[in-house]
Amino acid sequence: MNYEYKKDKIIIIDFGSQVTKLIARRIRDYKVYSEILTIKDLNKKNIFKNVKGIILSGGPSTVIGKKFPTIPENIFDLNIPILGICYGLQLIVKYFKGKIKSNITKREFGRTLLIENKKSLLTKGFFYKKKNNVWMSHQDSVYKLPKGFINIASTNESTMTIIENKKKNIYGIQFHPEVTHTTNGKLIFKNFIFSICKARKHWKIESEKTRIIQDIRDTVKNNKVICALSGGVDSSVVALLVNKAIGKRLKCIMVDTGLMRKNEFKLTYKIFKNKYKLNVKIINASKLYLNKLKNIKDPEKKRKIIGHIFINIFEKEARKFNNVKFLAQGTLYPDIIESRSSTGSKTSKIKSHHNVGGLPKKMNLKLIEPLKELFKDEVRKLGDAVGLVKSISKKHPFPGPGLAIRIVGNITQEKVKILQEADNIFTEQLIKNNLYDKIWQAYAALLPVKTVGVMGDSRTYEYICLIRAVVSEDGMTADYYSFQKKFLDEISNKIINGVKGINRVVYDITSKPPSTIELE
Ligand code: XMP
Repeated sequence: MNYEYKKDKIIIIDFGSQVTKLIARRIRDYKVYSEILTIKDLNKKNIFKNVKGIILSGGPSTVIGKKFPTIPENIFDLNIPILGICYGLQLIVKYFKGKIKSNITKREFGRTLLIENKKSLLTKGFFYKKKNNVWMSHQDSVYKLPKGFINIASTNESTMTIIENKKKNIYGIQFHPEVTHTTNGKLIFKNFIFSICKARKHWKIESEKTRIIQDIRDTVKNNKVICALSGGVDSSVVALLVNKAIGKRLKCIMVDTGLMRKNEFKLTYKIFKNKYKLNVKIINASKLYLNKLKNIKDPEKKRKIIGHIFINIFEKEARKFNNVKFLAQGTLYPDIIESRSSTGSKTSKIKSHHNVGGLPKKMNLKLIEPLKELFKDEVRKLGDAVGLVKSISKKHPFPGPGLAIRIVGNITQEKVKILQEADNIFTEQLIKNNLYDKIWQAYAALLPVKTVGVMGDSRTYEYICLIRAVVSEDGMTADYYSFQKKFLDEISNKIINGVKGINRVVYDITSKPPSTIELE
């Protein structure tokens, strides 16, 4: 990380757990800045400046055997409180010469009952009648405590599930408090950061605005920046931040793919051109997209075609804008975390999902990524702080390929129109019923089958509209939203009565996994 937060912070050393970023998320929710470091980062100068606590994450490795990922031993002598989670706990035990063993017959995966043996600062308020349900995922367990440590809680299978060395301020837990399946899990973090680390609440995303804008100014100097503006939250916040930093030296390009939601393109353009007075150029490419997508059914082919057209247009436009040196992108913190390995080797891959994804190297543009330390909900708050209209700052995520991956099978102008109408009705109803903000993502999709219906006295033979609404923390996993029957009835009626071309509405009741959020 180049960015240095200058107030109290908690660092998380990542050993590769799938859920490490949730730890940072939980801590920031308590208004304390938290960042995830790789083992390699630890060699950097001043890396422990302002650090009030260290968390060692979980991970797939085992400390049994000769080679395993570890940290410089002096970390245990820095006088900074340490909390080890899962693999982190085992590393602590190993370092202080306790004993760990692998036990295939006593593996614990999933929800497990934890029993309190002793009181600890770490577990204040965590147990109810000395019990709690926690989420486990391990095979190795501690079977002999290191000297100076005591046992705080156990499960049936592992005696030392929470351990502490109060004198040294070192704590270890075998389960995962960062996942929602652990009841009261966030209290573990609250106790650790406030009662043990004595960190103060300084992290406020709104107050980062000035710093980010100044950073952009310092980086760009007198040069120009180009930005692809889609009207989604991330690119909108980036455009406003860069505009505040360098004014008209930012050029935004909006490509009309014809695959956006109803009226979305026009509305976005109006907002940025008229309200924010940004330098925006629109490129109408909807015919081109539709032509190139004709008869293409394969989802990945669709994505590739859409990506290529976008890159061609963008490249052409960038060349017209003299002396442009930078490309501003809305990369988020989870994208950064996911695209590097925990041992620090940079894969340099920006997720293929992500925004402009693979812009060609020959464009020779340097990236500016003002949101790269932030989570999605923090970006929404930052959006509010830079005056972004609520209709954008609260908008659900929308995939780059747009409606193309919500029209299963081949795409036609007629299908796009039908889907836009249905999707618009669904969104309007969600807003009207105060449901929109409770849902991570909701949309209508069109299935490539026609079925028989009856309207009035006539037989119909039309498309099936699928509606999907999910709740999620970060899009990686998701549960479908449980609507009331009355709401579903209303949606079905309104879509069938309002959209010619649809005679059946179905609600998708699958979670992710096994499904994904999008259909394609
Ligand atoms: P899935 O469908 O993989 O989606 O469960 C997870 C999140 O990513 C979004 N998504 C995409 N975003 N280009 C994007 O920019 C894509 O090709 C793409 N596919 C999925 C999806 O909307 C959800 O928020």
